[in-house]
Amino acid sequence: MAARTVAIGLAGLGRIGRMHAENIARRCRSATLAAVYDLAPDAARATGERYGVPWTTSYDELLERCDAVAVATPTGTHAELVTAAARAGRPVFCEKPIAGDRAATLGVLDAVVQAGVVLQVGFHRRFDPDWVSVAERRAELGEVTFFRGSLWDMTPPEPAFIAGSGGFFTDVAVHELDVARWLVGEIVEVSAHGVAHDPAFAAIGDIDTAVVVLKFASGGLGVIDIGRGSRYGYESSTELVGTLATARVETPRAVEWRTPGQASHGLPRDFVERYPAAYVEELDAFARCVRDGTPPRCTGLDALAAFDLAVAADRSWRTGRPVAVKPVPTGDGVIYDIEER
Ligand SMILES: NC(=O)c1ccc[n+]([C@@H]2O[C@H](COP(=O)([O-])OP(=O)(O)OC[C@H]3O[C@@H](n4cnc5c(N)ncnc54)[C@H](O)[C@@H]3O)[C@@H](O)[C@H]2O)c1
Repeated sequence: MAARTVAIGLAGLGRIGRMHAENIARRCRSATLAAVYDLAPDAARATGERYGVPWTTSYDELLERCDAVAVATPTGTHAELVTAAARAGRPVFCEKPIAGDRAATLGVLDAVVQAGVVLQVGFHRRFDPDWVSVAERRAELGEVTFFRGSLWDMTPPEPAFIAGSGGFFTDVAVHELDVARWLVGEIVEVSAHGVAHDPAFAAIGDIDTAVVVLKFASGGLGVIDIGRGSRYGYESSTELVGTLATARVETPRAVEWRTPGQASHGLPRDFVERYPAAYVEELDAFARCVRDGTPPRCTGLDALAAFDLAVAADRSWRTGRPVAVKPVPTGDGVIYDIEER
């Protein structure tokens, strides 16, 4: 007998929401698309009609129509929508970050604990086959002495997205900080430098290029370079240098052309092209957690930890000083104590 599928209601049908709709409706084995919701009626209608599912501009109606919710609205709306879903008893998948500030993030985690529902956060790299294969063979590296993570958009997002993103470190660096914690371990110091080359970022006090240096509790070092606009392609790579071996995850090179004096290959243009399997698997895994009652691979506490480390990076960039951070174990994970919070 086929295992039960989980009926997911999808909130937010923009860049990433439309991709989640396609994955839930056509690629996930453990989930079905129950209904879609967006404040913009045209967006809701277009996606609903495309997949033959009910569409709505009412969040309450979405909650009534589903077993679980996936939230892919702008960051500033996550806290309200996730909290309402938890209070309605619906397990939630939420895009990163959970909220733009710490108090709102803590409020969401509290609501989720009170309701006793699953919360999984959209750190898709934890579900990508390339990174998962490194995690599975992590012991073969020995002690990791150096971590490098690169994440570059090809072209910057629209100005409206940037203005509501919460800032470069909490919007972009969180992905690399989560990978660093996941594959290396906890962090004790964060330093960062950042600049805005694009006037659109400078105009709102944000940056588009940064370097973050990490000191791990193990004694290892890490460097993260992130940018909003490489112009040549979407870049996402990780390197772990260990005492026994080194692992590198690179941007894939499916076909290489060799012509006189040159070798060239195509590059993905954005995150949708770079991680197709990861985005399917993160929602399939969420559906399995809901169905089977198993814990998610990345939790609200993981989101809080990456958020706190991103805030530490932001503070270091603004003050020009390293920021000491202290990972404090709790029953369910780790909470970071940040210097001068
Ligand atoms: N994990 C990743 O790789 C990844 C990639 C991109 C974006 N994101 C995250 O996904 C979220 C959405 O990003 P995006 O680029 O798709 O944004 P977007 O601006 O392209 O789309 C947002 C959509 O939400 C709708 N919306 C706005 N407020 C709403 C509300 N209160 N209720 C219902 N619908 C509402 C808008 O009409 C729009 O259709 C952000 O939190 C972002 O950080 C994650």
